Amino acid sequence: MTDIQVCPNQQDLFEKSAAEFVRLARTAASANGRFTVALSGGSTPKGAYEILARSDLQRRIPWPRVHLFWGDERCVPSHHPESNYRMAEKSLISLVPIPLENVHRIATEREPNEAAAAYERTLRKVFNLSENELPRFDLILLGIGSDAHTASLFPGSAGLNEKKRLVIAHKVDKLEAWRITLTPAVLNQAARTVFLVSGTDKAQAVREVMKGTYEPKRLPAQLIRPAKGSLLWLLDQEAASLLHIRKKKN
Ligand code: 6PG
Repeated sequence: MTDIQVCPNQQDLFEKSAAEFVRLARTAASANGRFTVALSGGSTPKGAYEILARSDLQRRIPWPRVHLFWGDERCVPSHHPESNYRMAEKSLISLVPIPLENVHRIATEREPNEAAAAYERTLRKVFNLSENELPRFDLILLGIGSDAHTASLFPGSAGLNEKKRLVIAHKVDKLEAWRITLTPAVLNQAARTVFLVSGTDKAQAVREVMKGTYEPKRLPAQLIRPAKGSLLWLLDQEAASLLHIRKKKN
């Protein structure tokens, strides 16, 4: 099931994203005793993370039962300005009472393939996976680039075809940089997947991914088709501007 919600502005997008996180955290923690979430990187989600750290929301989240992961990471030190971990640490983790052992950082101080293998071992351990089992996150947050990449699955990148591993490291030619990412199979195993997309620069990618022909090598975000879960696109009006969605009558 795919749902599209167009928010009047970016702040409303952040508020709705944070509210969805709280809803799922409380539901999963009471149903299963914990809430597993893979955070998105980039800059868009920072506003939502800051709202989650606000006292009125953070006290509604059962932090000791939350397990934080990342959907992808740049191969830079964790204190580097480009680090997805650093962004989440500053905007959320350092401000909430989550046990540090529940924060499953990708160890980018290691060589990329070793860091990916270590992260995969962590997934297998925390989710208690059997050999061919995939981890099913309660929530995966994703962004989309103007080139329709998501997580660190970029157009033409090696990871698009990965069928066996849970996590891969690959060199992204256009960035001339190494990235580590969950693979499409893992991303599609989540119970709930939410894209957070803001800005005019994403409008063309959003339209092509949603309305264009299925060309995942060119439009990797099209790979996101939850197998047994639901997908929500949270867009602000700018990001949705080429979808020509009729406003619901109040
Ligand atoms: C990353 C992300 C990536 C991001 C998009 C959008 O590590 O960069 O995981 O997939 O979500 O590039 O990034 P912005 O939110 O900065 O536009």
